[in-house]
Amino acid sequence: MRRELTLELVRVTEGAALAASSWVGRGDKEKADQAAVDAMRRLFETVQLEGEIVIGEGEMDEAPMLYIGEKVGAGGDGSKAHIAVDPLEGTNLVAKGLPGAIAVLAVAPEGGILRAPDCYMDKIAVGPAGKGVVSLDLPPEENVRRLAQALGKPVSHVTVVILDRPRHQELIRRVREAGARIRLISDGDVAPAVATGFEESGVDMVLGIGGAPEGVLAAAALACLGGDFQGRLILETEEEKRRAEAMGVRPWNKLLTLDDLVPAEDVIFAATGITGGDLLRGVRHTRDGVWTDSIVLRRKTGTVRRVEARHQLERKPVVSQLVRM
Ligand code: FBP
Repeated sequence: MRRELTLELVRVTEGAALAASSWVGRGDKEKADQAAVDAMRRLFETVQLEGEIVIGEGEMDEAPMLYIGEKVGAGGDGSKAHIAVDPLEGTNLVAKGLPGAIAVLAVAPEGGILRAPDCYMDKIAVGPAGKGVVSLDLPPEENVRRLAQALGKPVSHVTVVILDRPRHQELIRRVREAGARIRLISDGDVAPAVATGFEESGVDMVLGIGGAPEGVLAAAALACLGGDFQGRLILETEEEKRRAEAMGVRPWNKLLTLDDLVPAEDVIFAATGITGGDLLRGVRHTRDGVWTDSIVLRRKTGTVRRVEARHQLERKPVVSQLVRM
């Protein structure tokens, strides 16, 4: 993939974040999501690639835009790409004005991103120190102990992020008993998973069950950052299991490694903060303009870019149309 794509793609997550940020704290998660989707869809038209959405807003009959199979991009240089998107990861966070909402995407050459079904996934995410050290097949106490050792700090200094859900009661009890710190979050497990790749973020591990599409996005980032992510689909009916196998997860309950989730050697991941969190600052309005904070990662080169941008919306006709002033 062309290296210039990194900068083109960050403009896409910036646009989605700017659009969603108009809805922060307004109690309307649908409108916030729609604004982010519209903006991301529109800005893809400015990117020179022939892309197909493999992880998006849903199947064609349930999502009018950024649906699975939709072709996006301005064409141009003939690079065919597969794309995973979540224009607004953490719709409730935006509606309630809580930290941790991001606009996020990953792009890889065709076949480079697993087409994960829209179901739950059991997940473990760690930064580079935890690669080859932890496993979804190990008990949480053991993962916490091993990670502490690899990070060279006591277990009591290890911070594990877990979604605050009744289904995680037992997991929370066991991680607490192991002696680690837990940060419970109400939504949005992609940003903390990516944050494990930055030791200074203070997030060491993410554990528990969340969305499978979100898992693939987190895996794409950790592939670029040299961390690790493993997942296992959670499916109930025979029909769901058959569908997952038809999508390439065979057997459906296999341990999905980073390379199963994101087989491509060249992956670009971009994310922009909507509300501020451990990973990124949120969108901020000042007298000088509107500020965004983004990261762009590339697996092939391992480059990590932090992009702080000031937008003069009155001079950006495409974006300003998408942002509710
Ligand atoms: P949104 O789709 O509303 O943005 O929610 C995202 C999310 O919080 C993910 O980060 C997480 O993986 C998943 O939902 C958890 O699902 P549930 O709320 O059903 O436990």
